[in-house]
Amino acid sequence: MNNSNEVPLIFEMSSPGRRGYEYPDCDVPSEKVTDLIPSRFLRKKAADLPELSESEVVRHFTQLSRLNYGVDVGFYPLGSCTMKYNPKINEDVAKFAGFQRIHPYQGEETVQGALKLMYELEKYLCEIAGLHRATLQPAAGAHGELTGLMIIRAFHRDRGENHKRQEIIVPDSAHGTNPASAAMCGYRVVEVKSNPRGGVDVLNLRKITGPQTAGLMLTNPNTLGLFEEDIVEIAHIVHQAGGLLYYDGANMNANLGISRPGDMGFDIVHYNLHKTFAAPHGGGGPGSGPIAVTEELEDFLPVPLVSMKDNSYYLDYDRPKSIGKVKSFYGNFLVMVKAYAYIRSLGAQGLLEVSEIAVLNANYLMRQLQKDYHLPFDRSCKHEFVLSAKKQKAKGVRALDIAKRLLDYGFHPPTIYFPLVVEEALMVEPTETESKETLDRFGKAMRKIALEAMENPEILKEAPHHTPLRRLDEVKAVKELDVNWYKRNPSSAM
Ligand SMILES: Cc1ncc(COP(=O)(O)O)c(C=O)c1O
Repeated sequence: MNNSNEVPLIFEMSSPGRRGYEYPDCDVPSEKVTDLIPSRFLRKKAADLPELSESEVVRHFTQLSRLNYGVDVGFYPLGSCTMKYNPKINEDVAKFAGFQRIHPYQGEETVQGALKLMYELEKYLCEIAGLHRATLQPAAGAHGELTGLMIIRAFHRDRGENHKRQEIIVPDSAHGTNPASAAMCGYRVVEVKSNPRGGVDVLNLRKITGPQTAGLMLTNPNTLGLFEEDIVEIAHIVHQAGGLLYYDGANMNANLGISRPGDMGFDIVHYNLHKTFAAPHGGGGPGSGPIAVTEELEDFLPVPLVSMKDNSYYLDYDRPKSIGKVKSFYGNFLVMVKAYAYIRSLGAQGLLEVSEIAVLNANYLMRQLQKDYHLPFDRSCKHEFVLSAKKQKAKGVRALDIAKRLLDYGFHPPTIYFPLVVEEALMVEPTETESKETLDRFGKAMRKIALEAMENPEILKEAPHHTPLRRLDEVKAVKELDVNWYKRNPSSAM
């Protein structure tokens, strides 16, 4: 405990002998247990667990949970993350015993319902992307990227061109996972510059594209929230050079029912089901990053695909050109259930409205804030927009200070310092699930903070003032990470 506002650790509340629950006596003789477990794995003394009553445990964790902030608590405009409200009905459906209690080793004939759901979800995702077939296996967006890149490699290998196509082009505004996935797949990453309107610099792209190009990774709208105006020309350049076009679909919340990556010329698309299709995320998952591909690339998809024959569904492993499996079993199934429930409950018209409202909300907020914050690209945005705290920096206030001050006003801050092409970036993604009143309250707080930056910058530099913990030393937190009770109390270790 460093500070009087802090909740004590559960270990610090321990009182010897206090119990919440007593286990019944073990009915297996102890020598039998010790016979089964090698002695080096046996404890020398009892584990030093905190000793508390049930009500103390419940109150402790309830108190901690109240310090937490999430989409169920308030506005969460974390750009690029699509922190939309996740309807609870999706959770209810994912809890159905028929989904939750099945086992991946069950015979296909006993899980026809689950296979049908996967089969239909694949069809919906293909329809939304304007592509041919999809795999639901990848467990996250970045995992979808890696899978897509493996497919790109398999495609070029099949044509005998893999040895010469060793480069993946990535824009300078790209999400960090794009170059990281390309490098992980063994590719050389080549950066293409942005033009003054925030899109890909087509002249620069022409210069760096050639017989060495395996593909281009792009997100559209890009990480500035701007639609790639030259996408048709970009697709033409890459295809003419023999490369493939990969679509990072993390920003798909802007496009549902409005435009389809397949129609723009993309060959592979990944989705973040845990963003666009309303599965809760943050805190590490589980996620789901299906990828959809053109007919030309279908053969390379991971096995198994869910297919249908004689009115029943089956897992199709008979795909000789497949890149193989990319995840144990079939992916994070319950995330698929939530996405399926979300798509079915909204329908085609509902999905279209999701994106229309997401785009409307972002533009509404952007126009409210552009007087007080520098707007580097003054164009209509899609589902998110990027401001710069350049004006405030002149007063010594950084994007980080603005983010911290927002906590005092009860809001989760936007993403900061990304994309890298914008100085002091503040990336705001309101999503479609927020009301006009919430957007107005956030706009008001942001404008008030802009005023504070001019009149009383010190208040921002020391923010937050009203949170249980004040500003943390983030470097120290990384370099001297201290989250292990036993490390602090070695005598308690086994
Ligand atoms: C534009 C973009 N691409 C890719 C990803 C990676 O997705 P995931 O976090 O599911 O791996 C993200 C995640 O924030 C993203 O915003």
